[in-house]
Amino acid sequence: MDFNLTEEHIMIRDAARDFAQSELLPGVIERDDKQQFPHEQIKKMGELGFLGMMVDPKYGGGGMDAISYVLAMEEISKIDASASVVMSVNNSLVCWGLETYGTEEQKQKYLTKLATGEVIGAFCLSEPEAGSDATSQRTTAIDKGDHYLLNGTKNWITNGGNASIYIVIAQTHADLGHKGINAFIVEKGMKGFEVGPKENKMGIRGSDTHSLLFTDVKVPKENRIGEDGFGFKFAMKTLAGGRIGIASQALGIASGAYELALQYSKERKAFGKEISKHQAIAFKLADMATEIEAARFLCLKAAWDKDQHNNYDTSGAMAKLYASEVAMKTTVEAVQIHGGYGFVKDYHVERLMRDAKITQIYEGTSEIQKIVISRNILQD
Ligand code: CAA
Repeated sequence: MDFNLTEEHIMIRDAARDFAQSELLPGVIERDDKQQFPHEQIKKMGELGFLGMMVDPKYGGGGMDAISYVLAMEEISKIDASASVVMSVNNSLVCWGLETYGTEEQKQKYLTKLATGEVIGAFCLSEPEAGSDATSQRTTAIDKGDHYLLNGTKNWITNGGNASIYIVIAQTHADLGHKGINAFIVEKGMKGFEVGPKENKMGIRGSDTHSLLFTDVKVPKENRIGEDGFGFKFAMKTLAGGRIGIASQALGIASGAYELALQYSKERKAFGKEISKHQAIAFKLADMATEIEAARFLCLKAAWDKDQHNNYDTSGAMAKLYASEVAMKTTVEAVQIHGGYGFVKDYHVERLMRDAKITQIYEGTSEIQKIVISRNILQD
């Protein structure tokens, strides 16, 4: 077993780290405060290949492996989790599904633009009454011969306002339950498609989250992804990879907060010495470092499984479950180590603490990860 990263992996990690420091750090507090989408920064991320990292170069992607993706996600998320959720959704939930299950025409028409970051995408599964219970889709797509008629509402959609291409999951044959669900490519601007108001969120405030409304939207037949009835499995398979992205986001939030706390604890003096020299703080740092390392190994293991074409449902869910818990715990401790300074915006850790919470909720709550893991370990 070799724990060393390759030279290429180190290069990708360092490129993401440099980009985050030089392009994302300036203005991150203000973007969070004002809920400003990082338009310029996302454009540059596209140019640098961060939005279609694993896509085949023939479709404009970087042709990189999932390990590279984890490394880059961690570095971007250390500094700006709002930018990293845009990156994660575009890479894992939009590009991956299109590349794996799309037709050649769909790839030429949509994937090439998404992989280069010319446009960004959104993945639309959640509904007002179908969050964790994803089989209970109320959005309908009725077969009308050469097109489907799409009606319904989607909720909490990341990139909802800024995306141009949306993968929408909808029920086509209600009597067939999850076997009657399909996935469709919907373009912004299709008649009857409306973006609802932006959510005012606790964290990842620089990213835009919207509800979406579909009223008699005519979606061409050729925009269905996969065979009739493949939509639920498509969503599950896509989310399995998405969970590696969000696990890496959580890892980055945790390691970003830890690095700030470590640095602060070496500078801040109390009772005659640096606070890092007090065991109360040193032990906190030891716990944080240990848990982050464990989370990193889980993320890399899940990515390795994906790269080896092993099943990664369980390893991805384990990585997300654990890394998101570590993100929450570490960021709370980082605020505590900063004392009063941790409670004000200038020191970043309060933002990271707010950002951490969503990693336990989206792309499947922690409870959903436990369902996935327990079903897999309990099956005969
Ligand atoms: N791969 C392939 N097939 C899968 C699968 C997988 N990973 N997981 C389930 N399936 C298949 C099952 O085999 C089954 O098919 P058959 O009937 O043919 O055997 C079918 O899908 C239904 O599976 P279940 O009976 O297990 O379905 P369930 O109703 O019990 O739900 C669940 C399973 C894991 C709880 C699922 O509903 C789930 O993952 N829910 C959470 C949804 C979620 O993550 N939402 C996040 C929204 S996206 C988001 O947050 C994006 C963003 O903006 C950042």
